[in-house]
Amino acid sequence: MRTQVVDHPLVAHKLTVLRDAGTDSPTFRRLADELVTLLAYEATRSVRVEPHEIVTPVAPTTGVRLATPKPIVVPILRAGLGMLDGMMRLLPTAEVGFLGMVRNEETLEASTYAERLPDDLSGRQCYVLDPMLATGGTLIAAIEFLTSRGADDITVICLLAAPEGCAKLEAALGDHPVPVTIVTAAMDERLNELGYIVPGLGDAGDRLYG
Ligand code: PRP
Repeated sequence: MRTQVVDHPLVAHKLTVLRDAGTDSPTFRRLADELVTLLAYEATRSVRVEPHEIVTPVAPTTGVRLATPKPIVVPILRAGLGMLDGMMRLLPTAEVGFLGMVRNEETLEASTYAERLPDDLSGRQCYVLDPMLATGGTLIAAIEFLTSRGADDITVICLLAAPEGCAKLEAALGDHPVPVTIVTAAMDERLNELGYIVPGLGDAGDRLYG
């Protein structure tokens, strides 16, 4: 597993406003959207492309286009939905599949309550959107689910990650057959006793959708 913390002053600035408890929901949604587009730029650095012939007004040339099969973007409901538009701005022709997962706030166990994904993800690059990597339970389950469908390359975009969750993910993936990359705007200090990221930004789902 590879973890990339995106080091960019605009990412840090937008994240600071997101963290602020005084930021209202409309502003939070807009900033989350902008932040995801910045993270998506880094996260798509290895998106597969193929040569594409075109003719400019001056001469023929060879450029690139997204390779087939197209990548699939998978927001984890509900909070990941707030990241979808920001991602699709950079990958407008990607397919979108949905995974509904919820964390039991007492046991911190993640469970899947909905899925709408192609049965066969063989050869597909998957971009998973989930704002928080806290204990890691949700993402471990999501990655296992996508791998069981045949995904062969998985990149997760998070707004925030906790070191405990990253370590758990790393241990769970071990010699996982599929390359997994985590791209996040920040690696925070720790988790608190309730499983919240510290300093974090609170409950992303609640701040996006109330
Ligand atoms: C939050 C968050 C992640 C998950 C992270 O979702 O959006 O999906 O918890 O926690 P973990 O790393 O400890 O598994 P939540 O279960 O609150 O659902 P929501 O998105 O519907 O608010």
